[in-house]
Amino acid sequence: MRIGVKDGEVVVPDDPTIPFIEGDGIGVDITPAMRGIVDAAVEKAYNGRRRIEWLEVYAGEKGKKIKGKILPDETIDALREYKISIKGPLTTPIGSGFRSLNVALRQILDLYACIRPVYWMEGVPSPMKHPEKMDMVIFREATEDVYSGIEWKKGSKESKKMVYFLRREFGIELREDSGIGLKLMSEFASKRLVRKAIQYALRNGRRKITLVHKGNIMKFTEGAFREWGYEVAREEFGDKIITEDELKRNGFSEGKILIGDRLADNMLQQMLTRTDEYDVLAMPNLNGDYLADAASGQVGGLGIVPSGNLGDGMMMFEATHGSAPKYAGLDMANPIAITLAARLMLEHMEWDEAARLIYEGIVMTIKRKTVTHDLERQMTGAEKVGTSEFTNIVIRNIEEVSID
Ligand code: NAI
Repeated sequence: MRIGVKDGEVVVPDDPTIPFIEGDGIGVDITPAMRGIVDAAVEKAYNGRRRIEWLEVYAGEKGKKIKGKILPDETIDALREYKISIKGPLTTPIGSGFRSLNVALRQILDLYACIRPVYWMEGVPSPMKHPEKMDMVIFREATEDVYSGIEWKKGSKESKKMVYFLRREFGIELREDSGIGLKLMSEFASKRLVRKAIQYALRNGRRKITLVHKGNIMKFTEGAFREWGYEVAREEFGDKIITEDELKRNGFSEGKILIGDRLADNMLQQMLTRTDEYDVLAMPNLNGDYLADAASGQVGGLGIVPSGNLGDGMMMFEATHGSAPKYAGLDMANPIAITLAARLMLEHMEWDEAARLIYEGIVMTIKRKTVTHDLERQMTGAEKVGTSEFTNIVIRNIEEVSID
């Protein structure tokens, strides 16, 4: 059945149809692996009472081959219609007219919050002494900032016009040989991102939200993001949230969620030095791009980290890594990231029991040191297995997890 939407929230039946895009490159290896693990977890958690009806939709190379387009209209229609979807990585062919297929999908579907939970799983090799201190959820605004694609090349007609315009209208002198790009941040987009982060924190029992910005330098974009963030917190969640300043004055938080802010450069440092003091982070696009990868590095790298693209009543989940073409079809790739993306999807469907089984099954498999080559080469005494073997082991391990 179709997933519905009520008051901007998804309403999930017991047999939802979920479209999936297999993805390019290693998509052929990891996406079927993910589906196998999800089906096993759902079956064990609900004993046949719940079941996912998978619907394959095409994009990327498979889209071109089967439907004649790398992003067929019917794929977009299905993603819109069925509300929740999951995708493998997509390569953007050079000269396709798309800056990136992934960015195009997020823009077309208005999936404005890119979320990345970053946590360590026991046994995963990490460069940190205490990787277990990391448990953050990063909310990155995904439609604005310097990613709007409004930029002009040095010496172009447009950049010369801009140089002239700024001189004539505002008396601003720019070097004639400047490339020019626009940084845009609206109150609307900033507020809806922070609102989503706060709603997530409340729903998931998180204790703290940090707005990450560079407002000391970019006052009317990043600085405004900070102001708008506090405004949403105060005006819409005033009874559930307390600011760091209020906490200092009052001395106690009354069980409310704490909201504060940090400059992005300081945040990058504190992520390393005071890792466990941070929880949910909300930030503009570029900061999110940098911070999410830096945080992922602390817990073992991009290869195992999932992400979700959230809109209002619409979501698309994916791994953070790309299509790794050199391993495509070789039964070598690691399916953990896309499977944890499916776990995140199940949590957003409030199928928490199945989500937990997936997590426990993967953790058990890593702890027992049966892993794909990318992890095996960083671990001592581990056994290297292929994608399908790894998948079978995770499924067997899920069987061992207790469901109480
Ligand atoms: P990549 O993530 O595909 O590969 C980077 C490195 O990580 C490679 O050494 C690769 O072998 C390894 N790797 C990645 N995922 C792995 C897995 N599951 N198991 C084992 N090893 C893995 O990044 P790259 O090479 O920069 O991009 C390749 C293509 O993917 C490009 O066309 C890029 O545009 C696209 N891409 C798509 C994304 C998406 O669909 N969201 C995200 C990032 C890149």
